[in-house]
Amino acid sequence: MTIHIGAEKGEIAETVLLPGDPYRAKWAAETFLGDVKQVNNVRGMLGFTGNWKGNPVSIQGSGMGMPSLSIYVNELIRDYGAKTLIRIGSCGGMQNSVKVRDVILAMTSTTLSTPSRGILKELNFAPCADWGLLQAAAAAAAAKGTPTHVGGIYSSDVFYDERPDLNEQMVRHGILGVEMEAAELYILAARHKCRALAVLTVSDHLLTGEALPSSDRESSFGDMVEIALQAAFP
Ligand code: ADE
Repeated sequence: MTIHIGAEKGEIAETVLLPGDPYRAKWAAETFLGDVKQVNNVRGMLGFTGNWKGNPVSIQGSGMGMPSLSIYVNELIRDYGAKTLIRIGSCGGMQNSVKVRDVILAMTSTTLSTPSRGILKELNFAPCADWGLLQAAAAAAAAKGTPTHVGGIYSSDVFYDERPDLNEQMVRHGILGVEMEAAELYILAARHKCRALAVLTVSDHLLTGEALPSSDRESSFGDMVEIALQAAFP
C-alpha cells in the first residue's frame, strides 16, 4: 500500500492505463479487460487490474491536473514497478483540421509550468512520448480507421483559461489540443526510464465551441482505450 493507492505489491501490472476520471477507469476495465479485480478505492480514485489478450493491465484513475497525476504516477512507478504508462483522456481541439471525436496522439507537450518546474528550474525540458508506443498507437489507429492526429499538445494548469492571447499563439504554432496531464506524465517517465504516451479523444473544440454529446462519449472513448491497449501490446 502507498499513501494514495491501496493495492498490495504485485496487484498492479507493469502496463497501466491512466484515465483522469475514476469512473472511466471502472468502465474501461469492465468493458475491455478479463478477470478484473478492483485494486484501489482510496479517495474514490478507482484502480483495477485484469488482462487483455492474456497480458496483465491495470487501469488507474489519475484525477484532474498534473499535481494529481504526479501523485499516482510517482507511486505506480516507485512502489509498484509500473513501466508503461498510457494516459487515456479527453482534450479540447485547437486546430480547424481537428474535429470533435478525433483522436490525438501527443508526440510532445507544451506547458507554462509543471510540478517538475521546481527541480528543472530554468531548463525548458521538452516532454516527449515514447517512440515505440507512439508508432504502435498510430498503426493501431490507422488499422481501426479512426481519424487521428499526431503532434504537439498543450498541458494546461487551468480549465477555465482567461488568456485568449496565449491560445492564439498555441493555434498559430500548430498545437493540436489542450488537456491538463500529459506533460508531467512524460517528464516522470523520462526521469524513471519508463515508457509513456497520451492517447486523447477530442471532447470539445476551442475554435468552434462544439462539444461531444454525452450519449456519444462511450463509443468515442472506447476507440481510444483499444488504441492504447494495442499500442502497449502490438
Ligand atoms: N480536457 C478536455 N477539454 C479540455 C479543455 N477544453 N481544456 C482543458 N482540458 C480539457
